[in-house]
Amino acid sequence: MKVIIRDHAEDASLWVAHRIAEAIKAKAAVTSEPFVLGLCTGSTPIRTYAELARMVKAGELSFRNVISFNMDEYVGLPVEHPESYHSFMHKYLFDLIDEPAENIHILDGNAPDLDAECAKYEEAIAATGGIDLFFGGIGEDGHIAFNEPFSSLQSRTRVVSLTEDTIRVNSRFFDNDPNLVPKQALSVGVATVLGSKEVVILALGPKKARAVAAAIEGPMTHYNTVSSLQNHPDGVLVLDDPAATELRVSSYRYFREVYK
Ligand code: GLP
Repeated sequence: MKVIIRDHAEDASLWVAHRIAEAIKAKAAVTSEPFVLGLCTGSTPIRTYAELARMVKAGELSFRNVISFNMDEYVGLPVEHPESYHSFMHKYLFDLIDEPAENIHILDGNAPDLDAECAKYEEAIAATGGIDLFFGGIGEDGHIAFNEPFSSLQSRTRVVSLTEDTIRVNSRFFDNDPNLVPKQALSVGVATVLGSKEVVILALGPKKARAVAAAIEGPMTHYNTVSSLQNHPDGVLVLDDPAATELRVSSYRYFREVYK
């Protein structure tokens, strides 16, 4: 896997925004087929989304021919709840860009049949011909989407139970009350993410440093699902310097030298 280390969260976030923009434009230059983009939520992507929105506003980029699939959504949280991933995505991206509403896909955590909703999501992804680029973040335990430790690396979109750690970490968005955090979510699987042609994962800040080091230098394991990126032909982990602090000095120097 490639590891890009930038001094600050700002530079790392902009690197990702520009990579996404470049990929959208590169496909548009050779085909009229839509670009299929996987998207994430959390505090990590906010600066990247702001840059994409800026580019759209400035006329440098368009999402008119982009189809997007979000990674995950809480189960049972009303769509209009400020912390639903539906609300998040509209606030930070969809309301600021020109992606047609019918191209936006987010799992419905209130669907009457959650398993059917997950199966339908996989079918919808397959019907597009597959995701061109999946942009993700990671949890402090190395989860991608909501693929908590011990998720199968072959997993597909499904209902998942959140770990106590994730509930505690995410309670910062729910008045710091873990009881208000939904205990389950719908999430694309590890194999859904790895099935994308390109995977770009952004990790920022010291709280991600241990999971990042384990994913890069440790074995590929279901205990840290982002480590599965080791098995992707076009996977890149983009870090700010604090997220790289637990890497061995030799790894750190190598990545800094090779991916300037
Ligand atoms: C949640 C999401 C993940 C996200 C993670 C990190 O668990 N399901 O997709 O990567 O939060 O959030 P943050 O970026 O706020 O650290």
